[in-house]
Amino acid sequence: MSETDRPMIEARGLDKHYGHTQVLHGVDLDVARGETVCVIGPSGSGKSTLLRTLNHLEDISAGSIRIGGELIGYREKGGRLHELREREACRQRLDIGMVFQHFNLFGHLTALENVALAPIKVKREKPQQARAYAAELLARVGLAGKEDVHPSRLSGGQQQRVAIARAMAMRPQVMLFDEPTSALDPELVGEVLAVMRDLAETGGITMVVVTHEIGFAREVSDRVVFMDAGRVVEVGPPAQVLDAPREERTRAFLSAVLR
Ligand SMILES: Nc1ncnc2c1ncn2[C@@H]1O[C@H](COP(=O)(O)OP(=O)(O)OP(=O)(O)O)[C@@H](O)[C@H]1O
Ligand SMILES: [Mg+2]
Repeated sequence: MSETDRPMIEARGLDKHYGHTQVLHGVDLDVARGETVCVIGPSGSGKSTLLRTLNHLEDISAGSIRIGGELIGYREKGGRLHELREREACRQRLDIGMVFQHFNLFGHLTALENVALAPIKVKREKPQQARAYAAELLARVGLAGKEDVHPSRLSGGQQQRVAIARAMAMRPQVMLFDEPTSALDPELVGEVLAVMRDLAETGGITMVVVTHEIGFAREVSDRVVFMDAGRVVEVGPPAQVLDAPREERTRAFLSAVLR
């Protein structure tokens, strides 16, 4: 398989236990380069856990994850997987942007400084260059003119857009979003989804989005994954999974959330 045909994300047979509780059961997920996949499912079904294993914020009990062909969180030696040291896991995370429900911006830094910080500190980019790119990204997320504003003076939707720009500033191959709009006031959800839609449609970036926004999943995703009780129950194009689900559990979930 050539590198360009190979899926960007290859998760195989993922199991995850917390103590005696198993929260992921043999999860398989391939995501193609440039593809946008939305993950939906009831609370506690393992969506966040799956996302957090993809950049090794959580270790896995069995299975493997490759991103861009590289084994994530582990190295293979003598046919066995050995967990990487935190330093090496951090290096891998540089290529994987993550946006959480709570944006955790630095309050003492301006919007622009928040976005330019990691490229300067971690990637050792020239400050002038990093700041220019940060300004470009802020414009892209609709925040031109807000460069010098501190997070406390921004709305939740604006702060989340800064957080997206901050993740993009590292020029990641993959962006993971964990319910990026669920902490926002309803009137602010649309502006954040619009930015994510722009990222998905401009292409190039591979996105996995955990969301309760079924309309967004329908319009923006290439494929939808429905999870329940730690298993992938159904995967397919939105028209199939959302509008003509094959599995009873998918149907029951959708009828509850779309009510
Ligand atoms: N650190 C942890 N220790 C123990 N159990 C955990 C931990 N994190 C998650 N769990 C459990 O794992 C299961 C999956 O949780 P997860 O957060 O992945 O669900 P989710 O689908 O993201 O739910 P939600 O929609 O509420 O965010 C749940 O039963 C949860 O209680
Ligand atoms: Mg979650």
